[in-house]
Amino acid sequence: MYNIITKKKHGLELTADEISYFVNGYTDGSIPDYQMSALLMAICLKGMNERETYELTMAMAKSGDMLSMDKISKITADKHSTGGVGDKTSLIVAPIAAANGVAVAKMSGRGLGHTGGTIDKLESIEGFQTELSEEEFVSIVNKTGMAIAGQSAHLAPADKKLYALRDVTATVDSIPLIASSIMSKKLAAGAEVIVLDVKTGSGAFMKDIPSAKLLAEEMIKIGLSAGRRMFALITDMNQPLGNWVGNRLEVLEAVECLKGEGPADLLDASLYLSALILLGAGKSESIEQGRELALKTVKNGKALQKFKEFVTAQHGDPEPLLKSESKDAYEKSLCVNSEKSGVITSIDTEAVGMASLYLGGGRERKEDSIDYNVGLYIEKKIGDRIEKGETLVRMVAGERSDLERAETAIKNAYVIEADPDKKAVIKPKAHVYGCYVGTEYHELNSL
Ligand code: URA
Repeated sequence: MYNIITKKKHGLELTADEISYFVNGYTDGSIPDYQMSALLMAICLKGMNERETYELTMAMAKSGDMLSMDKISKITADKHSTGGVGDKTSLIVAPIAAANGVAVAKMSGRGLGHTGGTIDKLESIEGFQTELSEEEFVSIVNKTGMAIAGQSAHLAPADKKLYALRDVTATVDSIPLIASSIMSKKLAAGAEVIVLDVKTGSGAFMKDIPSAKLLAEEMIKIGLSAGRRMFALITDMNQPLGNWVGNRLEVLEAVECLKGEGPADLLDASLYLSALILLGAGKSESIEQGRELALKTVKNGKALQKFKEFVTAQHGDPEPLLKSESKDAYEKSLCVNSEKSGVITSIDTEAVGMASLYLGGGRERKEDSIDYNVGLYIEKKIGDRIEKGETLVRMVAGERSDLERAETAIKNAYVIEADPDKKAVIKPKAHVYGCYVGTEYHELNSL
């Protein structure tokens, strides 16, 4: 291990044997945290080339179970977001894809820090089961066309250990480490079509479009080398997606979207992600055609029907989600008002995510429990004009909410320019910037 650390410290390439040596050694506990931490930092500083990143991904993927989709009769697809605030697209995209004849077999994670996780959102539904055996998972996918389960401890266990160590050693923000972490789980989960939603902006790991594109390209190359059909969408995370942030509130907004009544940015991003799945699964010949098919299943109610079947199959009750619960939450919410007039020129989205966490909707540590019902309604977005005393954000609070901390985080997150004529308003150019079909990049003008 000492020699491997030294080699990487000098920026030298590691062999496949050296990579599997440290992945296996760290997973089985024979390599200690302090040596692994030193190597992770050397990788962060010196990088890894394409071959090394691929070998690292494969070694992590093979550290546990590699699921087989052989028992699923239809073509299988998986979708993964690099993490954001208000990102509930999986709950919309999976039913749309399933309604169009694609089998969505998805393993999802929980939220950590400022980002939300699909499993927490789903667990806000009465009775919903996220822990499924492999047999149950396959049987639900075959029956309803989709299933979303929590990632089992046997899936890429090397990543689980490595991610926890990266989290506390300031070694998360490295493209080869993020790419291998995400792709090891996706490859082990087995789907044939993989669609990545790579977020960029103040609420994302990748703060600008060029670095988001680099991450997307790295992950696409890994997936293609492993024989998967790869797609990626580059989407904006300079402000929360949609209006609601918070577990149950986001499920309700996803349902609104499936009814065709959700916010335009959320529907648009979801339709593009669905379009890439449909293209990858051979259900459409172009992104535009895929988008139309996706929209059709929203308009004719088939996607919403699929969502209901999926919730029921995983032992949840979909009926309460169809009622006007979010209107009630909105009416009971507390307003955070602007202290000045002007135009909103930027939002620190990570801070907005943290505000939801302070209300009790997220975890600071893995073992923390969360309040599913709390959250935020984003009244004002970038480019909007606001008068002093008008509402920026509404807070839906619970018993454990730290209202003062949440309110301060929200106020500090918003940049309001008093004189918009003289200052350029930094309205995000779009909420969907472009997409990769394999390694080919296409600009998309979604607004
Ligand atoms: N999500 C992951 O699963 N891994 C990372 O390294 C970053 C985001």
